[in-house]
Amino acid sequence: MHAVRLIHIFQTEKIMNILAIETSCDETAAAVVADGTTILSNVIATSHEMHEKYGGIVPEVAARAQLEYINPVIREALQTFDADAPLLDTIQKNIDAIAVTVGPGLIGSLLVGVESAKTFAAITNKPLIPVNHVLAHMYANFIDNKHLEFPAISLVVSGGHTELYLMKSPKELTWLGGTLDDAAGEAFDKTARLLGFGHKGGVAIQEAAAKYTPPTGGPKVNLPKPMLGKENALNFSFSGLKTAIWREWNKQKQPTEHLVNVFAYSVQEIVTDVLVEKTLRAAQTYDVKSVLLSGGVSANLRLREKLLSKLKTLNSPLSLHVPPIALCTDNAVYIASYAYFRGKAEPWQTITALPDISVEVT
Ligand code: KG4
Ligand code: ZN
Repeated sequence: MHAVRLIHIFQTEKIMNILAIETSCDETAAAVVADGTTILSNVIATSHEMHEKYGGIVPEVAARAQLEYINPVIREALQTFDADAPLLDTIQKNIDAIAVTVGPGLIGSLLVGVESAKTFAAITNKPLIPVNHVLAHMYANFIDNKHLEFPAISLVVSGGHTELYLMKSPKELTWLGGTLDDAAGEAFDKTARLLGFGHKGGVAIQEAAAKYTPPTGGPKVNLPKPMLGKENALNFSFSGLKTAIWREWNKQKQPTEHLVNVFAYSVQEIVTDVLVEKTLRAAQTYDVKSVLLSGGVSANLRLREKLLSKLKTLNSPLSLHVPPIALCTDNAVYIASYAYFRGKAEPWQTITALPDISVEVT
C-alpha cells in the first residue's frame, strides 16, 4: 500500500491540529499542536520514581505503568477543547491527524502508544502519521519559532543518541554522523550513577559541576577528549570516556563531596567540548545559516553557553536555536511538530512499533 501524503496540510488556510502520542521510553505523553508550531496542550506522565527505586528503567515496569497512564493522558490532552465532551467526539470535531512515535525505543513501551494511536485512528477515520523519535527531537525548535534559517546544522543529543544532521529545509534532512558507541546522555547518566546520583542524572551532574571552580589549567582528572582527530570527523564516541571516569573514580581513596563536584565538572567539560567542536566543524563544512540543538542533553546550560559563545566568534556569526528546557526532554509536542512538517500518513493497518528504526536518513 502506498503512503498517503498529507498534501492538504500545505494547501489549505485551515489550521491543522495534530494529536501526538509518545511512549518510547518511560514517559507517557500526549499533546495537541496547531500548525506544528503552537502548543494547545502538553501532558506528560512518568514512572521516574519507580525507576529511581530500581536504579534504572525496568522495561516491563515502564510498559505496565504506560498501559495505566495512556488513556488518562490522552484524555487530558484533549481537554483543551471541551473538558466534558466524549473523547471520540472531541477527536472527530477538533483533530485533523494523529501522530505516534514508532521508534526507536523500548518495544513494550512503544507498543502501548502505537496500538492506542491505531485504535483511535481506526475508529475516528483520521490520518495516522508514524514518527521517528530521534528525528522528531529537532522539531522542538519549530515551536513558536518562525525565524529558522536554512540550511542549518542540527545536533540531537539524548540519552540514547548523539547525531548530527544537515537540514536544508524543514523537510530535507541528511544524517552527517553520530555516536559509534555510547551517547552523550549515557556518559552523563553513567557518571551520575557512579557518583551516587539517581536515574537520568544529567541535571545532577550539571548542578554538582556548578559548585566547583577549577584552578587555572583545569582540574587534575586524567580523562580523554574522544574523537577530536580528523578521521571520524563528524562521529562521536563516549564509551572510552565512561571507562576512564570509572577508572579514575576508583583510584580515589576517600570520595568527598568536593571530589564528586570535580568529577561532575570534568565530565561535563569534556562532553560539551566534544559536542561543540563537532557541531562547529559541521557548520563550517556545510556553510550553514543556523544551528539547532535538541534532545535531553540540550537542556544542559554549560552546553548552551559554550556553543553560543563559540558561534559568536565565527567570521559570519550563526544563530543558535535551542528549545525551552521543558521541550528538550521527552514529550509529545515535538512529535506533533515533526508530523506536521515532515510526516507522511500511512494506513493504520501497516503501522507497527519499530524499536530499532534507523536514524541515519539521507
Ligand atoms: O531526550 P531524552 O529526554 O530521552 C531520550 O530520548 O533519551 O534525554 C534524556 C537524557 C538523559 O541522559 C538525561 O540525563 C539528559 O538527557 N539530560 C541532561 C540534562 N537534562 C537531561 N544532561 C545534561 N544536563 C542536563 N541539564
Ligand atoms: Zn528523546
